[in-house]
Amino acid sequence: MKIAVSILNSNYDELETIKRVNETKADFLHVDVMDGKFVLNKTPKYEHLYESKKKLNVHLMVSDPFKFISEYSLLNTESIIFHTELDYDIDGLLDYIKSMGLKCGLAINPNTSPNRLLPYIDKLDYILIMTVVPGKGGQKLLESTTYKIDILKKMREERKLHFEIIVDGGINADTINKVKNADIVVSGSYICKSEDYNARISTLLDSLN
Ligand code: DX5
Ligand code: ZN
Repeated sequence: MKIAVSILNSNYDELETIKRVNETKADFLHVDVMDGKFVLNKTPKYEHLYESKKKLNVHLMVSDPFKFISEYSLLNTESIIFHTELDYDIDGLLDYIKSMGLKCGLAINPNTSPNRLLPYIDKLDYILIMTVVPGKGGQKLLESTTYKIDILKKMREERKLHFEIIVDGGINADTINKVKNADIVVSGSYICKSEDYNARISTLLDSLN
């Protein structure tokens, strides 16, 4: 199980949060980008992402991902994930991200069926299952979304594909066992609103049974 730390909701400012994540055993730094159109909230422009020693897992909750891809390709970005619910040339965007040498992925909201991914599934490196309604940190995990993990694992096996399954939202020591069949969990508040980020990550992983 890999851990991506979302820095959206932290007790510290952006730079201090990134520095603290750098000192942990997290696998990724999860960067939530919101434009105030696809979701109501708008994230401020990140100023210190170049300080991240962790690979960036960029989650675009925006209506026009194309506008954001090139700026994130200049950072220590490993992957860019945008939403399937867009009325957009999804295939073209995925190809564009891959042409930058980055991994690509699609995210599905709580009320979006995994079947919406089928037209693109062969070219995905990641599928991100939103386990909360996108737009803010600190929400409760929606158990109604967790069935999608096994459906996507079955799709992956049947088609002999390689994408990794990420779950994102409301993940803490009490809820991680509800999503333990995922490959990567994103956790934000549970980690970043604590004093000891690494201890929280250890508690998350130790809670897996
Ligand atoms: C929500 C974001 C999530 C969120 C996770 O729209 O995509 O990444 O910040 O934060 P927690 O773990 O606090 O739900
Ligand atoms: Zn996210």
